[in-house]
Amino acid sequence: MPNDLPRHIAVIMDGNGRWAKKRLLPRAAGHRAGMNRMIGLAEHIFDRGVKYCTLFALSTENLSRPKEELDGLYALFREYFMRNVDTLCKKSIALRVIGDRTLLPADVVALIEEGERRTADGTRGTLLLAIGYGGRQDILSAVNTAVRGGKEVTQEEFVALLSTGGVPDPDLLIRTGKELRLSNFLLWQAAYSELYFTDVLFPDFSDAELDRALAAYADRERRFGKV
Ligand code: IPE
Ligand code: IPE
Ligand code: MG
Repeated sequence: MPNDLPRHIAVIMDGNGRWAKKRLLPRAAGHRAGMNRMIGLAEHIFDRGVKYCTLFALSTENLSRPKEELDGLYALFREYFMRNVDTLCKKSIALRVIGDRTLLPADVVALIEEGERRTADGTRGTLLLAIGYGGRQDILSAVNTAVRGGKEVTQEEFVALLSTGGVPDPDLLIRTGKELRLSNFLLWQAAYSELYFTDVLFPDFSDAELDRALAAYADRERRFGKV
């Protein structure tokens, strides 16, 4: 029996820089192409009927990239929020940003907060954008919240303290751009995710490529440790 459609798809959107390099363009051009693709891909994922989509846009480790590259990425995030929140509202998609906001420029944080507030009533699906996100930091922050509570917590209580609290674990985790690693993404949440790696660079990860990943997922046997 093929698996049902994943409820939650998470994507490590890697390969923008190499996409640009191949075309003798600056890395910033790759990030712009990546952002355009990110908008289309999220739409396709929700059109397919998936309820939760998490996109890894910036890791805590990415924050030590050169200032010029980071400034370019922040400019793209500003543009993304300004251009897309209306569409998300219309499509009834709730936006939720995970990651450490204290690491981001104040005006980007203001746009994030506005986007979350304006889309809060979305019922068709939830788009989680991981910006300034690190899986270890996510776990540590939940641990510290638990410790402040002064008593041991159950697994269920702990999960609710993670930045993804209330969201089911990803069924399918896709990484574009050839690397075979998690790079500090959703470390706790991906414990039983089906992993799908592709050499396709993120700006080239088309709707057809997503459908290929969904077809591969449908054929996986998910055992969760059982026989
Ligand atoms: C992914 O693309 C986007 C971010 C990490 C911000 P990269 O910028 O890592 O692209 P490559 O890996 O250099 O090709
Ligand atoms: C992972 O890509 C982070 C994002 C896609 C946001 P990286 O390009 O940062 O990963 P590494 O450095 O190759 O592990
Ligand atoms: Mg990369």
